[in-house]
Amino acid sequence: VIREDSDDLSREVASRIAQRIAEKAQAGLCCVLGLATGSSPTQVYKWLVRWHREGALSFWNVITFNLDEYCGLQPDDLQSYHHFMNVHLFDHLSDIDRNNIHIPDGTFSSTEDIRKLCAEYEAVIQAAGGIDLQLLGMGRMGHIGFNESGSARYTRTRAVYLDRVTRVDAASDFFGEPHVPKKAVTMGVATILEAREILLLAFGENKTSSVAKAVEGPVTPAVPASFLQAHPNATFYLDGAASAGL
Ligand code: GLP
Repeated sequence: VIREDSDDLSREVASRIAQRIAEKAQAGLCCVLGLATGSSPTQVYKWLVRWHREGALSFWNVITFNLDEYCGLQPDDLQSYHHFMNVHLFDHLSDIDRNNIHIPDGTFSSTEDIRKLCAEYEAVIQAAGGIDLQLLGMGRMGHIGFNESGSARYTRTRAVYLDRVTRVDAASDFFGEPHVPKKAVTMGVATILEAREILLLAFGENKTSSVAKAVEGPVTPAVPASFLQAHPNATFYLDGAASAGL
């Protein structure tokens, strides 16, 4: 889906999410959402919050799993993805059950802990029935979640080292690249691809080259977003700049 205005795209994506939540609610079922951070999804959250405030959308049946979190940050640290999600979405939802919100914990202290934590994250996703709808952004080099270039198709939730480009792109949030964590916990490529529906948002000229590779290039771990080509129900939502290389 290509539109000139990114807010139109955000509204379309928010509307698809709202529709899925409502369909599930009507059937008396939970809706399991995979959620993303970064600048790309913020307007989607703005629309969801607005419709909720207006009484048009409830979240009583929603279970969420976030893609990733930086290692070493406490949930209330300003740069943490826990904090990001509270500010942009969760704090504004009066009827979401806080027990239904899941974000990887980046504060583990040993290799044993992180293995356990990642296995549990996968198990809780399975126990919830799998992800119905996964919202995604994309890094400048085509990463999804924090699955950097080189992430294989079979990868699962795990701790990873961040690429230099990713740390440079995050530098402004941390007042300089040296302060950006070197590691993160992320859902794997396989975890993401198991979602029944995937909506990827990419805006701006920084994404032009990776969007072209992801959509029209070979399916390769060098560009993890290219794995979405093999997914039965994945849609890219692109503004004019991001789609310019297609
Ligand atoms: C980070 C996040 C990704 C996100 C990417 C792009 O790396 N871990 O999930 O997609 O940033 O962010 P933005 O949407 O700000 O370009």
